[in-house]
Amino acid sequence: MTELLLKSPAATRRLGLRLGAALEAGDFIALTGELGAGKTALVKAIAEGAGVPEPASSPTFALVNLYRGGRVPLQHLDLYRLGGPADLFALGFDDLLAEPAATLCEWADRAWPSLPSDRLEIALAHEGPRARRARLTARGPRGEALLRAARSP
Ligand SMILES: Nc1ncnc2c1ncn2[C@@H]1O[C@H](COP(=O)(O)OP(=O)(O)O)[C@@H](O)[C@H]1O
Ligand SMILES: [Mg+2]
Repeated sequence: MTELLLKSPAATRRLGLRLGAALEAGDFIALTGELGAGKTALVKAIAEGAGVPEPASSPTFALVNLYRGGRVPLQHLDLYRLGGPADLFALGFDDLLAEPAATLCEWADRAWPSLPSDRLEIALAHEGPRARRARLTARGPRGEALLRAARSP
């Protein structure tokens, strides 16, 4: 487990840019943390780092947003409103995971048993009005590669 102190929104953006530059199709980033912890902010920066031309918007109503036009296609999932495993099935979660895209999943803790085993987990927490703490855990080889990218200066 690696802990990063993100002292400002700019620090969160820099972390996202590093991750976005390293993302490959098939990668999965599991984001957790309470409302306002910075999950969507980090997703936007990851999309920017992956070269997505338009800034990613928060999927307020849709559970899935697709971002094309970057170096790698991204799918942004927000499972906040997920009721249970049946909803995950209805969402076509397995089909989404089979897409040749990288997946950024907010509220991933709503779906732990269904997540791919190779992934990077990022738990965000408030450390003050402008600071956040990120705890990163790599599971599997691609998770490790993304963790290295996250740590590189
Ligand atoms: N260091 C920081 N990193 C990320 N967001 C921050 C930071 N400091 C303050 N914020 C603010 O916190 C909020 C995070 O919102 P958001 O990314 O939508 O959170 P979540 O998706 O986890 O609910 C934004 O308003 C952002 O400007
Ligand atoms: Mg969010």
